[in-house]
Amino acid sequence: QPMPSTLFILNGPNLNLLGTREPEIYGTTTLAEIEAACAGKAHEHGLAVEFRQTNHEGTLVDWLHEAHAADAKAVIINAAAYTHTSVALLDAAKAITPPVIEVHLSDPQTREDFRHVSYIGEGAVACFKGKGLPSYLDAIDAAAAL
Ligand code: DQA
Repeated sequence: QPMPSTLFILNGPNLNLLGTREPEIYGTTTLAEIEAACAGKAHEHGLAVEFRQTNHEGTLVDWLHEAHAADAKAVIINAAAYTHTSVALLDAAKAITPPVIEVHLSDPQTREDFRHVSYIGEGAVACFKGKGLPSYLDAIDAAAAL
């Protein structure tokens, strides 16, 4: 039996606080609820999920490398604030074979100017944003179709 292909779903800083963090922007859905919904959606596509969160930039870099070593089907990443600052994450996205899909709960384009730049977006094949949890589910559908 071949192993099902795996989607890495990586979450950056402060996303562990979803549910109580600025609910007027991010809603009240917790990261655990997002994880459960993502697992369900991925399983509909016959895909396994490696769902993680960290507050540390270098850990996200390591996990992108790990997705490459594991021959993941794709990486779905909400890099949170590192979206707007991290050349290291962009370089990692470009260095790996699995396609990278960017996701956001909010739409950074409609927020402060400093959120309008996305470094990771330069290395991503698609971006789903502004829909809350459904942004993640749309990204999984897109990953499954790759
Ligand atoms: C975010 C948007 C980012 O600008 C912000 O720094 C986050 C969350 C989102 O999912 O809407 O932490 O990535």
